[in-house]
Amino acid sequence: MAKLKGKDLLSLADLTKENIKELLNQAGKLKKRKRSLTATIALRPKVLAMIFQKPSTRTRISFETAMHQLGGHAINLSWHDLQVSRGETIEDTARVMSRYVDAIMARVNLHSDIIKLAENATVPVINGLSDLYHPCQILADFLTILERRKQLEGLKVAYVGDGNNVCNTLLVGCSRVGMDISVAHPEGYGPSAEAVGLAGEFSKSSGTKVELTMEPETAARDADVIYTDTFVSMGQEGEKDRKLNVFLPKYQVTEKTFQSAKPDAIFMHCLPAHRGEEVAGDVIDGPRSVVWDEAENRLHIQKAILLSLIG
Ligand code: CP
Ligand code: NVA
Repeated sequence: MAKLKGKDLLSLADLTKENIKELLNQAGKLKKRKRSLTATIALRPKVLAMIFQKPSTRTRISFETAMHQLGGHAINLSWHDLQVSRGETIEDTARVMSRYVDAIMARVNLHSDIIKLAENATVPVINGLSDLYHPCQILADFLTILERRKQLEGLKVAYVGDGNNVCNTLLVGCSRVGMDISVAHPEGYGPSAEAVGLAGEFSKSSGTKVELTMEPETAARDADVIYTDTFVSMGQEGEKDRKLNVFLPKYQVTEKTFQSAKPDAIFMHCLPAHRGEEVAGDVIDGPRSVVWDEAENRLHIQKAILLSLIG
């Protein structure tokens, strides 16, 4: 397995197109093997520390299972259990943890905190979601698209909803690997300027299109994939009523949203989902939906990421 560009995986901008292809290829191979055969000793006796400043189901379980099945060990650390919650600096935490473990995966509120962690850790740091990016999620999603469409290049992804961490990562990732991306969002809820800037830069070399619109129908036109995520990300609970008023009903993905898409377009969602908010129940639970494959693929892609960073 080829090494990644740098020590850390904080954003998909840290990966070349080749890196992404290799990770997807490796994850696909790992997925094909029977569970018993994947229980190798590739990561024995490596230890992954997992820091969670916010809740998680998929990220935590897939990383912990991946470490176990590769012969290593994972330590689950809630932010509140660490001295960092009592004022020890992130810099000192990074220095100390680097003396014990082989890699750190962290889910944090502020992307600037994961940058601090990575700059001061001597071991690889993996972003398990920040306010800005969610790279492991989108790699698993690319594996899912590849399984369904046998290719990434030349496809079009439409993202409908809040311009959040998942949307930002899709913008960077799609333009990096050669997919067109169109984002439909309400005024004032667009993706970050950094992500839009990177997507513009990458799309020039990959020859893809990046579009921002307020109209879900425009974004969905000829799309191969329609993707959405929660309107209310973790930490925004206080804004729930206001946001639902802004987003509903226009930005809910329904069967109607698919009318202008390719006839066989698939529905994607990183989960957790809120039926009746960002997606209609009959879409997420219907035949277009690949959300359970996306969730499963988190496990396979985490293995590929871990093997390339600390294998
Ligand atoms: N999609 C995702 O990251 O899920 P969790 O929040 O459950 O980890
Ligand atoms: N945008 C969501 C993603 C959850 C996996 C959040 O940040 O809460």
